[in-house]
Amino acid sequence: MTAVVGTTDLPLERVRRGKVRDVYAVGSDRLLLVASDRVSAFDVVMRELVPFKGAVLTQITAWWLRQLEDEISHHMLTADADEIIREVPMLAAHRGVLAGRSMLCRRTDVFPVECVVRGYLSGSAWKEYSESGTLAGERLSAGLTESDRFDPPVFSPATKAETGHDENITILRMREVLGATTADELERLSRRVYSRGRDVAADRGIIIADTKFEFGEVDGDIILIDEVLTPDSSRFWPADQYVAGRTQPSFDKQPLRDWLDAERRAGRWDGNAPPPALPDLVVAATRARYLDAFQLLTGTPLNTTELS
Ligand SMILES: Nc1ncnc2c1ncn2[C@@H]1O[C@H](COP(=O)(O)OP(=O)(O)OP(=O)(O)O)[C@@H](O)[C@H]1O
Ligand SMILES: [Mg+2]
Repeated sequence: MTAVVGTTDLPLERVRRGKVRDVYAVGSDRLLLVASDRVSAFDVVMRELVPFKGAVLTQITAWWLRQLEDEISHHMLTADADEIIREVPMLAAHRGVLAGRSMLCRRTDVFPVECVVRGYLSGSAWKEYSESGTLAGERLSAGLTESDRFDPPVFSPATKAETGHDENITILRMREVLGATTADELERLSRRVYSRGRDVAADRGIIIADTKFEFGEVDGDIILIDEVLTPDSSRFWPADQYVAGRTQPSFDKQPLRDWLDAERRAGRWDGNAPPPALPDLVVAATRARYLDAFQLLTGTPLNTTELS
């Protein structure tokens, strides 16, 4: 089987290649999402691959969707390679590439808004707040400090940008784009899933500081799609190191970020592509973090023998 996968080339129509995932059409009503082991930091995709990262991402999404089964309709049909091959027999020769990292989904019409929920004040939100006291143009209470917890969490939608950074939009703007009823429903669902996820993860030593959901419509129903509460769609912080008033370490990418930062400070990297070549130790540390995140969250180690 294939332990490390960079890009995939499956005998299906590829509809998209993201920074991490390759997306294929399966007939007209299903999609196959395949998470590679590509890793990005500071918006630059590294040349090196992080073994098992794709499987960690896909299986974390699958795990959450099973946890959330009674709370929300979602797009997952299966994330099991044998079941995928049973559904799509022409993929039989590609089992090694698929195992662990792929999910067969219902294909939806995607709402063009990223539903961001923030439980802690961090990243671009902290930057905007510290400059103007607002988040996506809406005023927050005064006197907050970096990484402060929000109760209740803040819903801050963004538009999906083809390139570069997504742009925060006001809730008013979201209602104009989607209609008030749909916008309100997406906010309600996002808050519900995030709140449940934040509590579950916190009990297991991971703070999910913020996250991004996507929703789609199929047969008149709104369902949760894409990746769900993964380290790539969310900020994961180690709970035992949390201290408000400063930037928190990232549960998954901190070794990578620290090393890249040091390269930048030493003048060996300008922060743009192409990135510097990563030492094996940095790749190994990042790999370990993703596997730790999976185990801490789900309570069981990722089955890596099946994947290597
Ligand atoms: N059930 C679904 N129906 C339709 N589209 C979907 C579904 N699930 C996910 N998608 C779409 O699949 C695409 C995945 O590609 P995306 O560019 O996000 O990949 P990525 O590797 O996550 O990249 P990035 O890190 O830039 O987000 C998204 O555009 C998402 O809207
Ligand atoms: Mg994405």
